[in-house]
Amino acid sequence: MSKGQVIIVGAGVLGLSCAVQLSRSGHNVTVIARDLPGDSHIDYASPWAGAHFRPSLAKSPAEQLEQQLMRDTYSELEMLAKEHPESGVKIVPAIEYFDSADTNSFLAKENGYIDWPDFRILKSDEYPAHHEGIQLGVTYRSWVLNSPVYLQWCRKQAEEKGVEFVRANIRSLDEAVAIFQQKGQGNRESDIRAVINATGRGFNDPDSFPSRGQFIIVSNQCDKTISHHWADGSSTVIIPRPLGGGTVIGGTKEPNNWSEDISDTATETILKRVAGICPELIKKENPVAGSNYGFDIRQVYIARRPMRRGGLRLEKEILSQGIPLVHCYGAGASGFKISWGVAKQVELLVANTQLLLNDPLEAS
Ligand SMILES: Cc1cc2nc3c(=O)[nH]c(=O)nc-3n(C[C@H](O)[C@H](O)[C@H](O)COP(=O)(O)OP(=O)(O)OC[C@H]3O[C@@H](n4cnc5c(N)ncnc54)[C@H](O)[C@@H]3O)c2cc1C
Ligand SMILES: *[C@@H]1O[C@H](CO)[C@@H](O)[C@H](O)[C@H]1NC(C)=O
Ligand SMILES: *[C@@H]1O[C@H](CO)[C@@H](O)[C@H](O)[C@H]1NC(C)=O
Ligand SMILES: *[C@@H]1O[C@H](CO)[C@@H](O)[C@H](O)[C@H]1NC(C)=O
Repeated sequence: MSKGQVIIVGAGVLGLSCAVQLSRSGHNVTVIARDLPGDSHIDYASPWAGAHFRPSLAKSPAEQLEQQLMRDTYSELEMLAKEHPESGVKIVPAIEYFDSADTNSFLAKENGYIDWPDFRILKSDEYPAHHEGIQLGVTYRSWVLNSPVYLQWCRKQAEEKGVEFVRANIRSLDEAVAIFQQKGQGNRESDIRAVINATGRGFNDPDSFPSRGQFIIVSNQCDKTISHHWADGSSTVIIPRPLGGGTVIGGTKEPNNWSEDISDTATETILKRVAGICPELIKKENPVAGSNYGFDIRQVYIARRPMRRGGLRLEKEILSQGIPLVHCYGAGASGFKISWGVAKQVELLVANTQLLLNDPLEAS
């Protein structure tokens, strides 16, 4: 028995995770998106992501919810790494260095940071050479994934469950409904159980804005993911991409900068910093010493993280046509980390719509 028709607008990691989740639980799903897995566009954030898991402190209620989404996602990806390595997901050790960190806050049990698998504080003799600035170093077990491979894999999972993909750049919800109706004879608006707004930065939302990131893909291999948080507030990350994807290193975080131009200064800073943090990357197993600090550069790129003031928008509204609209966009720098947790929340919101519509009392 079908649980009804759901239209998802967006085929980034959030739209795809929702498509897999909702089709697995028996919904008929149509995905409508301007960019699909395999495409490359500066405003399609997902294929540019490293991507890796890195925990964050959970102090406020919003941070605690986000941590729950991360834990739900972590278990799902841990299972995929084990049972479906072809999805591009892999479990690796993670190392994080902080030049200025409120150590007490990081290590307080209630903030959740120390509760991730294999968590341990590093001894200072485990720090890289010439990094006297480091105040705190930690390690834990993390996941990394090859995002272009992973997105294709998710699409295939969804298609096997009957999900249909339609390429379209839409301007309104009405257009999404019209596309669905054109698609199949007898498709009626009243069949639509919900529309999911997984458009990344959304559109026409004044709270959405991009954060420009310059990153580099190198061929040099690394068997763990490393992050260094510098005293000036910037971060350097090293993220291996399984299945031959090389290693993503970077990067910059520049809110509201719309420039598509590569900065040579930023490239130089990234290479120099990464060579210092992880000398193994440019050792003799990676015989490309000489130029570029010993890195074999495959690509330098600019991407835009879909930020939103107030954070991820995860909520439902009922439109004037009576169609429930579930928003899930504005994931910023965390879309992969929270993806499966978000998809499960979206499923709950969709399920609940029936209640709201059939029983007006419940809706109040
Ligand atoms: C360099 C970089 C590194 C990152 N590293 C990590 C990491 O390590 N871990 C992590 O968790 N996150 C990371 N992120 C963040 C992560 O990439 C994003 O949070 C995530 O990709 C957002 O996914 P999304 O599905 O919301 O949006 P997107 O991937 O941008 O997808 C949006 C979808 O909506 C569609 N769409 C938009 N408007 C319309 C329209 N009008 N009509 C039709 N379709 C439309 C698009 O075509 C696309 O299909 C990184 C991001 C960058 C840029
Ligand atoms: C909806 O999904 C069910 C299986 O869940 C399938 O049998 C049915 O054909 C689908 N309907 C449409 C219109 O795609
Ligand atoms: C998604 O949300 C944005 C911001 O509120 C809105 O402008 C847009 O119309 C929504 N998309 C759909 C398909 O409803
Ligand atoms: C945006 O980034 C570009 C490229 O690095 C840079 O030249 C420019 O000064 C930046 N703009 C702002 C407003 O910071």
